[in-house]
Amino acid sequence: MANTRRPIFELHIQPMFRTLDRVHMTRLAANKRIDFADYQQVRAKSAKIVALLNDPSPMPTRGTGGPWPQEWIDLFFRWTQTDFGRLAKPTGSNFKLVLDAPDRYTLSCDVARPDASATAWFDVQRAQPDAQVYELVMEQIDGAAPAPETVTVEERIRGPLTVAEVVVIDAAGEHRLPLPTS
Ligand code: HEM
Repeated sequence: MANTRRPIFELHIQPMFRTLDRVHMTRLAANKRIDFADYQQVRAKSAKIVALLNDPSPMPTRGTGGPWPQEWIDLFFRWTQTDFGRLAKPTGSNFKLVLDAPDRYTLSCDVARPDASATAWFDVQRAQPDAQVYELVMEQIDGAAPAPETVTVEERIRGPLTVAEVVVIDAAGEHRLPLPTS
């Protein structure tokens, strides 16, 4: 059976762009510049991007690892044809960071999800001993019957850590949770 999963910007589109693509394309004059980490910019320039991914002189350029394989071009095109899916950024509540065992922690919070199709999780932005940053995200399937409920989201963190706090980003901003010692 064909996989009809809707492409999502943060999960499937943004990872196809390398740091090199981002650096080269943000150096251009303002009218041509595209920041591939920015959903709105990629969406706004998507027709030009599709054209240049398919161009005989393609982007990314032949001298820098281009062109993309056809499957990647098809995936980008399918994203443009399925209303530019992206993750939702919900607001959490009841944030907790608990010490489970030496150097083992559980980060958790509650999230109100709109229906049973919606999944929420902590995306990892930084997971080093000296930097711990997580972002609360949610994926929703369009058209699911509303059935609001509050669910708990968890992420296990393994140390040893040298940070004094773990940072969590949600729609309300940054939450700083001190690292528990007991
Ligand atoms: C997936 C990767 C890339 C995509 C989708 C992409 C897409 C595009 C698009 C859509 C434009 C036209 C912008 C406009 O006229 O409004 C453009 C221009 C340009 N890109 Fe990229 N690009 C990519 C990677 C790169 C890389 C790796 C380089 C350099 C090594 C590069 C160099 C340029 C340059 C120099 C222009 C301006 C060309 C001109 O003056 O008309 N791009 N690119």
